[in-house]
Amino acid sequence: MTTIHIDNRPYPAKDGENLLQECLSLGFNLPYFCWHPALGAVGACRQCAIKQFKNEEDKHGKIVMACMTAAKDGIRISIDDPEAREFRASVAEWLMVNHPHDCPVCDEGGECHLQDMTVMNGHIYRRYHGRKRTFHNQNLGPLVNHEMNRCIQCYRCTRFYREYAGGRDLDALVLRNQVYFGRHEDGVLENEFSGNLVEICPTGVFTDKTLKRHYTRKWDLQTAPSVCVHCGLGCNTIPGERYGTLRRIRNRFNGAVNGYFLCDRGRYGYEFVNSGRRVRQPLLRKNRTQLLQPASKRGALQHLGEMLSAGARVIGIGSPRASIEANFALRTLVGRDQFYLGISERDLRLLASVLDILKKGPARTPSLHEVELADAVLVLGEDVANTAPRLGLALRQSVRRQPEEIAKKMGIPLWNDHAVREAMQEEHGPLFIATLANTRIDDIATRTFRGPPAELARLGLTIAHALDPIAPQVPGLSNTAQALAGAIAEKLKAAERPLVISGIGCGDKAVVEAAANVTWALCNMGRPAELCYVVPECNSLGATMLGGGSLETALEAMNDAADILVILENDLYRRADAALVDRLLAAARHIVMIDHIKHATSAKADVVLPAAAFAEADGTLVNNEGRAQRFFQVFVPRGEIEGDIRGDTPRDIPGDIQESWRWMRDIMVVGRGDEGQWSSLDDVTAACAAAIPSLEPILRAAPSAAFRMDGQKIPRESHRYSGRTAMHANVSIHEPEQPQDLDTALAFSMEGYAGHPPPSLIPRFWAPGWNSIQALNKFQDEVGGPLSGGDPGEPLIEPTPGKKAAYFENIPAGFEPRVGEWLLLPLHHIFGSEELSILAPGIAELSVQPYLALNPEDASNLGLTAGDEVQLRLRPEADAQVDVKDAQVDVKADDSANVTTTAEIFRLPLRFEPELLHGTAGLPAGLTGMGNLGGVALPAWGELKKVEKGKQMEG
Ligand code: SF4
Ligand code: SF4
Ligand code: FES
Repeated sequence: MTTIHIDNRPYPAKDGENLLQECLSLGFNLPYFCWHPALGAVGACRQCAIKQFKNEEDKHGKIVMACMTAAKDGIRISIDDPEAREFRASVAEWLMVNHPHDCPVCDEGGECHLQDMTVMNGHIYRRYHGRKRTFHNQNLGPLVNHEMNRCIQCYRCTRFYREYAGGRDLDALVLRNQVYFGRHEDGVLENEFSGNLVEICPTGVFTDKTLKRHYTRKWDLQTAPSVCVHCGLGCNTIPGERYGTLRRIRNRFNGAVNGYFLCDRGRYGYEFVNSGRRVRQPLLRKNRTQLLQPASKRGALQHLGEMLSAGARVIGIGSPRASIEANFALRTLVGRDQFYLGISERDLRLLASVLDILKKGPARTPSLHEVELADAVLVLGEDVANTAPRLGLALRQSVRRQPEEIAKKMGIPLWNDHAVREAMQEEHGPLFIATLANTRIDDIATRTFRGPPAELARLGLTIAHALDPIAPQVPGLSNTAQALAGAIAEKLKAAERPLVISGIGCGDKAVVEAAANVTWALCNMGRPAELCYVVPECNSLGATMLGGGSLETALEAMNDAADILVILENDLYRRADAALVDRLLAAARHIVMIDHIKHATSAKADVVLPAAAFAEADGTLVNNEGRAQRFFQVFVPRGEIEGDIRGDTPRDIPGDIQESWRWMRDIMVVGRGDEGQWSSLDDVTAACAAAIPSLEPILRAAPSAAFRMDGQKIPRESHRYSGRTAMHANVSIHEPEQPQDLDTALAFSMEGYAGHPPPSLIPRFWAPGWNSIQALNKFQDEVGGPLSGGDPGEPLIEPTPGKKAAYFENIPAGFEPRVGEWLLLPLHHIFGSEELSILAPGIAELSVQPYLALNPEDASNLGLTAGDEVQLRLRPEADAQVDVKDAQVDVKADDSANVTTTAEIFRLPLRFEPELLHGTAGLPAGLTGMGNLGGVALPAWGELKKVEKGKQMEG
């Protein structure tokens, strides 16, 4: 630490750190635009001007930009100096010269950094009365809106989009004094982090187009801390609601996890909560010949009570997309031995293997922030840009670590962004990517390697052997692969923070084990290696930690004379092949589905109960690093407000939607007379922690419902929340009582504690004078560092450092192409492969369509050219765990897209994928509209044939 003097008073500061950052960390309100804690400084806007003095005697000083000055010991500066103030005010004035007077109709209004800075600078009157420069606004696709006239040329957008996120299609286009930030022509922004422009841009140029479609003023949003449910990384979010509709998602800073940024799937997938596919009231049929009919909550529970009280044997199937508490409640309802995880045997084996490796191995799993610090990385088998997008963004930062040494040697501080990038040029640190096909982060890779899972595993095992000769040796590897493995081993060995990333995305246990071998070989050499596995869903790891069998074992149990199948938040047809699921469902006398969306499995249920979606419930999720994080209910899904327009006391009639765990509790009450087992989420969490010791830390993921600050709860509504009476004035002129929250320390109200709550309970970032997302600075002790009080999340998995782990010995045989057959590989897509986000219109518009991918040479050998269609016949094969013999045609008209299915034959448009290995083909993983293919475990072997135009498929 060092001492700096601001307006003649001494303050502690970090030596050499960015002076603007230090001033903000000390709590000064110093205006800025172009600087950003994640992007560093370029000195473009001139807004952060201060006076710097040579010494105590210097009364004149000189204007400098705080963001371009280092905090050196003894430095004397003034923020309050009249000339500095005047300079900053004049910057605001010139930036406003061309800025439109459209705050009242601007989507950014109310949380605009430009508004805040203009007020902070005291710029009140507009002296300029001339014509303003105007621009064409572009259509940038369904997610981001463009209003270029509001631009202040700070360059933050292009710096984030191009330099931080690797996008290429947005740029600063310059002609004379006109600088245009946009694409070369209208069109969808290509980068999967484009939504961050909405928060990065300090004005209303880039705004959230999905919010625009159901716009509400930002201060009228009810918000709560939440966690993204669209992949396994657990990025922290702030969803906002008004009038019972979820309106948007914003980033919730967590210094260890997502930092300042979300991917577009996580930001825009929220609209599934408003989707027409929601289950909003109980549905019931007394026998399977009837259609499901709407029923009252009481009627549905009564029916369930009758079913259960007859002594029926119940089996429960949980879900990796449901919370720990919901899964545990089901486990309690059905009993531990009757609880199954709702995951196929193959996937459960993979997840169990990941969990076992993380628990028993010597390597740590890094947080996303720690991934950014890795200086040599091997990605083995996982297309992270599509399966865990925010991890891909972290890797874009990690490749800067080694080249940054060049800048350090030249004495350039790392916050001096432009100078650092000039020094580094196009240098990238070592990043090796071994995957099934090309990925969107290949542009920063040192080397890439393509192959089917067996070849990826063999490469990984060879790297491990090159690091430690005791690790098993792979016979018969090509010279090229041998040489590559040696080169990768050298770079990992030489690194200070080597990192191995893998996952279950390519569906192969040997790949998971090979990644462990590489990491363990590094650990055995005394290197501080880290190991990161990608898991597919928001609670994949948490569900696995709960314990329970696979879908296949559930089928055995059903056949063993169970009566009732209770399924939690799970479309089983996405998990396993249709034949298995059909058999499982057919074996049950009664099927009870508790979910928030309708799908192929709920269509076969006898009772469907409306579960709360993430924004309507509280719970705990465990991300891929084993971090337990609490998400909080944003709003109560209301039924209706009942009352007389002149009456005194309107009544809020709750809707039928409730948390899954509450449905289980109610079923236990009606079925077993199990009164009062749980009255709040805390009761369920405590029972779960007591029953499963490894989950005990979930108790500390957030304060309990009894937590108060100054005796008050934390309000979900801002102090400017408006219209609370008017919004129900058509029913009564009196304001209904706000819903009570028994489960958390948050209140569905604008009344409550006005200060800073603990980090896991922060419902929004706001501070006096700071209405934009930049108010976050006030919630950090050190701007850019962790949240004051520590970043949220409790670790559930602690590795054993120094432990010697035994290597996995299984060496898969090398891949042999087959004559007339192709190995079908799963290709993941950020838009389309995930079940819930695809229900959001914006994501659906960008979703990939069904296809079959081949490399051009294989396609040509089959006589296929661009625009052709391919007939795929999947071959049932034991070793590929595919069994489609009894597959049923089950493609609905509305989701069939370009696919036609008959039994196990599929007709798909051809797509070229040049990097697929000869003898392999690709299919989009998890895509709705792939019919029975959606649940088939890939890789699997299949036959391909050209479909002659205008002809039917051959059977
Ligand atoms: S569009 Fe926004 S972020 Fe980009 S230069 Fe203009 S004001 Fe800055
Ligand atoms: S990376 Fe995953 S968790 Fe993060 S925002 Fe995207 S989908 Fe959500
Ligand atoms: S913030 Fe310092 S010049 Fe822009």
